[in-house]
Amino acid sequence: MRNKILAILKKEGEYVSGQTISEQLGISRAAVWKHIKKLRNDGYEIASVTNRGYRLINHDSVTPDAVSDGLKTEFIGKNIFYFDKTDSTNDRAKAEHDAPDGSLFIAETQNGGKGRRGRAWTSPRGEGIFMSLLLKPDIPPDEISQITLIAGLAVCRAVGNDAIIKWPNDVVINSKKICGILTELAAEDDMISYVVCGIGINVNTEKFDAELAERATSLLIETGKKHKRAEIVQSVLTEFEALYKEFLKNRLDNILPEYEKMCVTIGREVNVVYRNKSINGMAAGIASDGSLIVDTPEGRITVSSGEVSVRGMYGYI
Ligand code: BTN
Repeated sequence: MRNKILAILKKEGEYVSGQTISEQLGISRAAVWKHIKKLRNDGYEIASVTNRGYRLINHDSVTPDAVSDGLKTEFIGKNIFYFDKTDSTNDRAKAEHDAPDGSLFIAETQNGGKGRRGRAWTSPRGEGIFMSLLLKPDIPPDEISQITLIAGLAVCRAVGNDAIIKWPNDVVINSKKICGILTELAAEDDMISYVVCGIGINVNTEKFDAELAERATSLLIETGKKHKRAEIVQSVLTEFEALYKEFLKNRLDNILPEYEKMCVTIGREVNVVYRNKSINGMAAGIASDGSLIVDTPEGRITVSSGEVSVRGMYGYI
C-alpha cells in the first residue's frame, strides 16, 4: 500500500489531498495518514498542508525502496539496512556481521564517518552516498586489498564522467577526489570471517570547505547537475557484483587490464613511503596481487599499501 501511495505522490509531484488518495486506493484517510507517517520514518520527506494534502519533497533518497526498485543483482545489496542517521555504516555492518553475504548498510548521513588512516569522512545529509557492503569471501586475509581495488573500479564504472582511479582506490575526476573506500576485516585462523567495504561518494555537494575544496569534488560540481543517489547506488552494486564474482573465480587476472587503463597513477611520478623511507619513483604497473610496481633509483619495488602521492594530484607537485 505504501508503494501505491508513493507512486501517487511521485506522479503528481504536487499536493494531493488525503481524500483523493483514500478514494483512489479504497482505504480510510486515517490509514493514509498512518502510511505517510511510516514513509516519513523511512526517510521520505513529505510535506503536509491543511486543506491541500501531501507532497513528496525529496525524491532523492537512498531508502530500501529507492535502492531495491529495479535492482537486478543476485546477492549484493539484496538485504538492506537503512539509517536516516548513524555513526558509521562500516561500524553498523560490523555490528551486524551475522547478516547475509552482500548485505548493504546505507545512511542519509553519518556523524562518525571514518576515512583511511584515522581521518574523519564528512557525511552531509542527503548530499552523498555513505554505504558499506558486508562480504564473506573464502580467501586469506592478505588478499583483502584486492577487494578494495575492485570496489574502486566498480565506482569508477558507475559514476562515469571520466572518473579514474588513484591507486589503490580513490576515485578521481579532474584530479580531485570524488570517492573514498575504507575496507575493514575480521579474520580468524588466517581465514577471513567477514569484510566490510565502506564506500563514500560525493554526489550532490555544491561546495566544500576551503580545506577540502582543494582535494575534493562532487558529481554535481563536475557535471553541473544533481544526480539521483539511489541510481548511482544501484550501478555501484551491479558493477561491484560482476567484478566480485569474477574476482572470486579468477582473482584479478581478467580485471587488471581494465583497472590499469583506468588507473591514473601508472606512468606518473609518485612518492611512496617504503620501509619507513620516502622514495620518489615512476609507477610502472599493478602486480597480480594488486600491489603497485614502482621503479625507483634504488630499483624496482612493489608497494602493497600505504600512502602514495601522485605528482600533480591533491597538491603533490
Ligand atoms: C578514505 O579515506 O578515502 C575512505 C573514506 C570512506 C568513507 C566511507 S562512507 C561509508 C563508510 N562508512 C564510513 O565510516 N566510512 C566509509
